[in-house]
Amino acid sequence: MEPDRYDDLDGQVALVTGANRGIGRQIAENLRDRGATVYAGSRSVTNETPEGTERVLLDVTQEGDIEEVVDGIFADQNRLDILVNNAGVGGEGEDIVAESTERIDRTLGVNLRGPMLLCKHAVPLLLQSDGGRVVNVSSGMGALGEGQSGGSPAYRISKTGLNGLTAYLDGQYGDDGLIANSVCPGWVRTDMGGEEANRPVEKGAETPTWLATFKPGAPAGKFWRDKEVIDW
Ligand SMILES: NC(=O)c1ccc[n+]([C@@H]2O[C@H](COP(=O)([O-])OP(=O)(O)OC[C@H]3O[C@@H](n4cnc5c(N)ncnc54)[C@H](OP(=O)(O)O)[C@@H]3O)[C@@H](O)[C@H]2O)c1
Repeated sequence: MEPDRYDDLDGQVALVTGANRGIGRQIAENLRDRGATVYAGSRSVTNETPEGTERVLLDVTQEGDIEEVVDGIFADQNRLDILVNNAGVGGEGEDIVAESTERIDRTLGVNLRGPMLLCKHAVPLLLQSDGGRVVNVSSGMGALGEGQSGGSPAYRISKTGLNGLTAYLDGQYGDDGLIANSVCPGWVRTDMGGEEANRPVEKGAETPTWLATFKPGAPAGKFWRDKEVIDW
């Protein structure tokens, strides 16, 4: 059954992390095109963010940035309807023995600790909206059911953890109306996915955008790919 969704996002406010390039940029553009006021997070002032969005300086490893951005949204808009935890760094290590400690710290810092801190500071505001949404951009590489071989241990485990955050948010706040979901965008032609990837960025952003339009009562606490629920 097709979940209940908003036809447009007029009057709603969204925050997208890592919105200067790749999938996050496309998600920010999609939400803008559906009428939302979009805060486009970028960790560097030299990065370009989509036209018609509010650029905010947001390195997800910096709690000070996170607090400043969430406080700024509260002051300007007095609401936040959608948080898209998209910012991420890829993995390269062949196995856990070869993975550098620096890469482990960095990958977990951006891909897992970052979204946790975003939620720590943004959930109170999201709960003020009827059906606030969290969309965690995860990866099938973190799915426990997908074998877990093939390298990139820090990346995989960061995404398994991110899925844990989704399940936690649903367990803790689902009854209060929060709609938290994880999504795998597929293998997407971005700097991270590489040129060989089989999907354009528009396709990668499609299901994350769709999840951001869920209405109160829509499914939550799930992991999605191509608008279908997949196994964690
Ligand atoms: N591409 C794929 O095939 C694929 C598959 C599965 C899942 N994903 C997930 O999709 C999401 C987006 O990936 P992508 O392919 O669009 O990657 P991308 O093109 O490499 O873009 C990554 C984005 O994250 C930002 N970022 C990195 N570290 C950050 C930090 N500390 N604070 C804030 N922003 C930071 C980057 O900003 P800078 O420009 O400043 O570096 C950039 O905007 C990631 O979570 C990724 O794990 C991608």
